[in-house]
Amino acid sequence: MSEPMTNRLAPLLTAKPNGRKVAMLTAYDYPMARLLDEAGVDVLLVGDSLGMVVLGYPDTTLVTMDDMLHHTRAVVRGRVSAPVVADLPFASYETPEQAVVNARRLVEAGANAVKLEGGSAKAAHIAAIVGAGIPVVAHIGMLPQHVREEGGYKIKGKTPEDAQRLLEDAKAVEAAGAIAVVLELVKPEAACAIGAAVGIPTIGIGSGPDCDGQVLVTHDLVGMFPWFTPKFVKPLSAAGETIRSAAAEFILRVHGAGAQV
Ligand code: KIV
Repeated sequence: MSEPMTNRLAPLLTAKPNGRKVAMLTAYDYPMARLLDEAGVDVLLVGDSLGMVVLGYPDTTLVTMDDMLHHTRAVVRGRVSAPVVADLPFASYETPEQAVVNARRLVEAGANAVKLEGGSAKAAHIAAIVGAGIPVVAHIGMLPQHVREEGGYKIKGKTPEDAQRLLEDAKAVEAAGAIAVVLELVKPEAACAIGAAVGIPTIGIGSGPDCDGQVLVTHDLVGMFPWFTPKFVKPLSAAGETIRSAAAEFILRVHGAGAQV
């Protein structure tokens, strides 16, 4: 792990021992990265959720490495101090070797760490990337890159067996060297048990309040994708409506006689 990478990630690495919660938000471009960093966010995530909220795809499975590299570079240009974690997209880490090659490309684009989806099944891939000196954030629970096989975004950890499997996944990614683990749509009781069982921070999304940190898709948080908001998100602004009203006002001014634009 190179020196600047480790330094930049210090707030994430020290959060759990210091009892400090981690606030992570997605960014896909320069202005959003700069605004979130100025607001003091702990970690910027270039999530492959950009497939839906920026590129207009139905899910994340069409996002490519080129998309991720392009958006990672833009976010890195806008960030001032927060570490940037970039997602390895669908089918970019089929083998440990491929995972290392593509993780390196994201780091060359400026990412401080990469994130990938999967628990025990991806432990060897995580260990290989970590072995190449690149910090990894794991992602377990609901895995958006598998949404087509799974037939939707379903809550995980509802049965004792499933909760136990998730716990084992979390321990496996920690043992493989992950620096944090995202828990997506994990039943809050199961998420809490995972947080107590591992030393790395758990970053929840739709997984209850008892994780070591929280992550959201910023477009959901700020109401920038008003056509769909996940049930667990309470938007804190209505950016989409603000844009619509400003555009409507501009259109009125342009269409009005003797308009001042
Ligand atoms: O792609 C993404 O934005 C994510 C978050 C939902 C954690 O993986």
